[in-house]
Amino acid sequence: MKFFIDTANLAQIKEANELGVLDGVTTNPSLMAKEGIHGDAKVLQHYIDICNIVKGGDVSAEVIATDLQGMIAEGEKLAALHPQIVVKIPMTKDGVKALKYFSSKGIKTNCTLVFSPGQALLAAKAGATYVSPFIGRLDDVTFDGVDLIAQIVHIYRIYNYQTQVLAASIRHSMHIIRCAEAGADVATCPLNAITDLLKHPLTDIGLAKFLADHAANK
Ligand code: E4P
Repeated sequence: MKFFIDTANLAQIKEANELGVLDGVTTNPSLMAKEGIHGDAKVLQHYIDICNIVKGGDVSAEVIATDLQGMIAEGEKLAALHPQIVVKIPMTKDGVKALKYFSSKGIKTNCTLVFSPGQALLAAKAGATYVSPFIGRLDDVTFDGVDLIAQIVHIYRIYNYQTQVLAASIRHSMHIIRCAEAGADVATCPLNAITDLLKHPLTDIGLAKFLADHAANK
């Protein structure tokens, strides 16, 4: 399973990248706003900065336009920024048409705001590179988000769709484990959900004992 980091914070992206397990980055307009990145020029430069940190990794950049022509114009501008850019398109009727357009041009896409298997089926048929089911937001309204991941993985395997299932809206490490068990291709996570995977008290106790025995053995 690939690990993406779900942030526009450059320090966090660098920290995850230095761990050596990072495969890409996802952003969205809310994450850009959280970092205070606004205005076309600054937003575009920020995407380039992110690409330069995660060398070779896919970096999702979301369109703001909601009409087909607007999404196409904006997506083409984003894709031309850097070869690592993946154009992030919302799951709407015009969004599906835009996915089809970009897939026919060989431009990578990430279909965002997916909450049902039917939406995921449409994204795959339109040739999306990634589909992003939002599992945390489903959990928030008492639907098991990981069940949706398993359902989409199952459907895609039956028909051998090449669209990769990118589990998004991950809130904690257990989500990552359950998405891995469900067969997600990618998990996009906050930094703490990734670093919390490191933790186990028996590791700490075991290491302390090894070091104590080594120190006593002089
Ligand atoms: C990433 O592609 C999504 O935009 C993101 O995971 C949404 O996460 P949230 O539900 O925590 O806002």
